[in-house]
Formats: sequence, structure tokens, C-alpha cells
Amino acid sequence: MPLTRRSLLAACASLSLAPPVSAAARSARLGELAARSGRYFGVAVTHSDVSDQARHIRLFDGECSVWVPAWQMKWGALVQALGDDPDYRACDAIVASAARRGKRLRGHTLIWHEHLPAGAERLSTAADWRRFVAPHIAEVAGRYRDAIFEWDVVNEAIEPYDGGADFMRRTPFYAMLGPDYVAEAFHLAAEAAPSARLYLNDDHLYYAEDWQERRRTGTLRLLERLIKAGVPIHGFGMQCHLDTRFRFDERIFRRFLQRLEDFGLTVAVTELDVTEAPSAHGRSMSERRRLAAAEVQKVLSVALDSSALAGVVTWGLSDDDSWLRRRAADMTDNQGLPYDDAYRPAPMRDALASLFASTRTRHST
Ligand code: G3I
Repeated sequence: MPLTRRSLLAACASLSLAPPVSAAARSARLGELAARSGRYFGVAVTHSDVSDQARHIRLFDGECSVWVPAWQMKWGALVQALGDDPDYRACDAIVASAARRGKRLRGHTLIWHEHLPAGAERLSTAADWRRFVAPHIAEVAGRYRDAIFEWDVVNEAIEPYDGGADFMRRTPFYAMLGPDYVAEAFHLAAEAAPSARLYLNDDHLYYAEDWQERRRTGTLRLLERLIKAGVPIHGFGMQCHLDTRFRFDERIFRRFLQRLEDFGLTVAVTELDVTEAPSAHGRSMSERRRLAAAEVQKVLSVALDSSALAGVVTWGLSDDDSWLRRRAADMTDNQGLPYDDAYRPAPMRDALASLFASTRTRHST
């Protein structure tokens, strides 16, 4: 195999070495590097991250061309209890800041079985859907129809271990309409926000583990049903909450990406971060950060080979406020994002810069 930049990067990834990064790529902004190949780079934010007084607004503004509300646009964040009026103040502030700073906004997420209004977990009939869920989708997608360029319409619809032959997660939405809730949500979103690109979003789809193969199977079956039914779906979001414990086989991941591409979908990495293996804790901090960067290099060097990949979003910029650190007692110092606790560039930032600088250009979306 000739020694090309990409083969060198792949070799670094396979050896868990930090990728080489040129001085030009290191000094360029990630959003600008991504744009050179027709892609975007973005980050999950809260309204306090992107206020004009925010401590790190220059970083959130400088590095990213896309912002994604990490949690404040979810049904349970907008509506405390079923029947309450929605509180859009935090989301309106994010929208206003994005407009002032020329950021595109990715909406997350209209339908998710977590972070629901109190009482929504008991919804179970088609009448409940018509009374509560349909108006929620129409109102939120409609309110931000001119501010959001693409939506995660339905998040995490697949759960093979819920026992259904369709490998779909049994949620209140499934109880209300059966598997057709997904199609109905996309039709409602398309009606309310006709110019937005509409995505199905899910996780645990990249590694060679059997349980992830079942998730890939369920995901592809659902996508095939939606596309055959003429549902207005434009893309698939791979959350990419990567994990150094799992076995990666690029042939398996490439096959999955090719199936998504064959469906004519655009693909996005929507929530990138890295969970370190418990064994990492015996290593030095610099070694741990290098291994996390190598995990991103390994998986994203394959994803960025797909011309369908439209963008990459990290689930936060700094480990300091990563959700991963709230997940378990032994993860309170997880090293899984492009910037460290003090918002200094970590090796993962170099890995992303190097990946964007070396990837082939894709057709624009
Ligand atoms: O900031 C407030 C704080 O002021 C308040 O005192 C506290 C108690 O209510 O809440 C704090 O906000 C919390 C927020 O995280 C910031 O920590 C919200 O309650 C909490 O619901 C929110 O959790 C978010 C979670 O989704 C549920 O929405 C996480 O930040 C967010 O990282 C996580 O993201 C999900 C994706 O949407 C889907 N994929 C998995 C991913 C991780 O779970």
C-alpha cells in the first residue's frame, strides 16, 4: 500500500499513536478545516455556554460552525409536566446567539424516551399522541423552522433486547402508535419545518460486538421500512459515544456506512466523545488522552471515507462539563473530548484537525 497521508493516519490509529498534525492544521479552526471537505464541525451547547458573557464563548464560536442544544430543546426541558406551557427562553437564547455569530443550529431532539415531561411516561394511546405528542412536534419544529437546518427527529428508537421482532425500543411512543410512531414523527416534522433535513439518531453501531451487530440490523431494517414507505427522512445520526473497551473491525463499520450511503442518506457523527476503559486509570494523563485521540482517529478515519458523512459534532468541547463524568463514580476524570478540564487543546483536537485536513472532499449537501 503506497504511503499516503491517509495510510499514515490509519497506521497511527492501529498503533494507537497520536496522528501527525501539520502546524497549519493545528492553527486552523476545526470548523474551517471541516468546511474544506464540504463538512461541518459542531458542538453540543447549553445557553450558558454561548451567552456573550460565557467564559469560553471565543472557543465555542471560533472552533465550531454548528451548535446543538445538548438538552434544553428536549420535551422534558421545555415542559416540566404534561399540560404545562413550554418555556422556550433557554432555546431562544441559543437561537439568538447562533444567529448573531453565524452558526447553523442542529436540533436535538423532538422524540426521545428520556427527559420527558412528568406524566408523559404514562401516555399509551393514539389519542394521547394526538393530544400531546403531535402538538409538541409541530410547535417546536414550527417555532424554529427558520433557525434549525437539520433535526434529530427520533432518538434511540432501537433496542433489540426489548424483545420485539422489529428490534425496536418499547417506549411510550411505541405504546401510543406502535412502530409507525417514527414515520408519523417525521411527517409532522416535515410539515412544520419543510426546509430542515430530518435525521434518525442512535448509538452503539461502530464496534464488532455481537450486541452492536443486532443494533445495526435493527437500524437498517427500520431505515429500509421508512424509505420504502416514502417517509421524509434525509439522514442518519451516529452518536459515536466511543468506548476504548470494544473491538473495532473497520470492514464491519465500512459495510454499515455503505448501507446507509446506499439508502441515499447523509450521515452525521452527532455526539462524539470517548469513554475510557477502567484499565486506563493506571496510565498517565497524557497517555490516556493520547489513547482517547487514537480511538477517535481509528473510527473517524473510516467514517470520513464516506462521501455521505456531512458533519461531526462533539458532545461538549471540554471534559470539564462532560456528561460522561456524571455517569459513574470511576469516570469523574474521564478524558474523552478535544479540550481538557482547563479548556486546553488535548490530543483529540489534533486528531480531529488532522482527520479533517486529510479527508477527501465530499459533494456538498
Ligand atoms: O444545569 C442544570 C442545573 O442548574 C440543575 O440544578 C440540575 C438539576 O435539575 O439540572 C441541570 O441540568 C441538567 C443538564 O443535563 C446539565 O447537567 C439536566 O437536569 C439533565 O437532564 C441534563 O442531562 C442531559 C441528558 O441528555 C438528558 O437530557 C445531559 O446533559 C446530556 O449530555 C444527555 O445527552 C444525551 C443525548 O441527548 C442522547 N444521547 C445520549 C446523551 C447522553 O446521555
